[in-house]
Amino acid sequence: MRSTALAGAFDELADTYDHPHHEEIARALIAWVAPGAADTVADVACGAGAVALQLAQARPGTARPVLAVDLSAGMVAVGRARAAALGRDTAIDWRVADAVPLPVADHSLDVVLCASSLHFLGRRALTDWRRALRPGGRVGFTLPLATHFRPSQRFAGHVARDVPLPGSAREASAWATECGFTQADSRVHVVGTRRVVVTSATSPDAG
Ligand SMILES: C[S@@+](CC[C@H](N)C(=O)[O-])C[C@H]1O[C@@H](n2cnc3c(N)ncnc32)[C@H](O)[C@@H]1O
Repeated sequence: MRSTALAGAFDELADTYDHPHHEEIARALIAWVAPGAADTVADVACGAGAVALQLAQARPGTARPVLAVDLSAGMVAVGRARAAALGRDTAIDWRVADAVPLPVADHSLDVVLCASSLHFLGRRALTDWRRALRPGGRVGFTLPLATHFRPSQRFAGHVARDVPLPGSAREASAWATECGFTQADSRVHVVGTRRVVVTSATSPDAG
């Protein structure tokens, strides 16, 4: 099965995953969306928890745990260990599962964040995020800039064909709008030799 192969590929990568690069992207994504301290937040396709861990460290102990979902048990195990080492193990609700659909009730989340993973999830993820977010809730995602995307052979076959990699910030915002979100805003973020587009957008009001 396709998702099993992808989970296996990330399981093997888990111990040698490029953390500094992904920490930097997570930082840029969180800064762009700026979730509130009391917001209910999901880190979609969380991997080893780059986003969830930074949020968990910044949030008060009374905040609801960040929901962190990933297909790869190996990546989640690394994330859990990192959270425990930081003394923040109860601040994240880890789940090993397909992140689409998210295991939440309709319109129950304030913020959905997805770093470096949407191109594996496919457009169906955006449909699910509109279901999961409350009206006016916010989504934030990063995608590689098309000109800087060079997946290894192992991962190239897992890239969703229905997620257009943006050639610019404007293209990423236009795609989020086409997918039903409003107030989309994007920027290109430079990380060493890599370039990613960081996008935030709002889930529309029901009426
Ligand atoms: C490049 S890593 C990014 C991980 C993390 N978000 C980060 O910023 O470090 C991509 C992640 O997407 C996960 N993934 C891919 N498809 C998935 C799916 N359908 N459901 C859940 N996780 C998925 C992989 O297991 C992997 O951990």
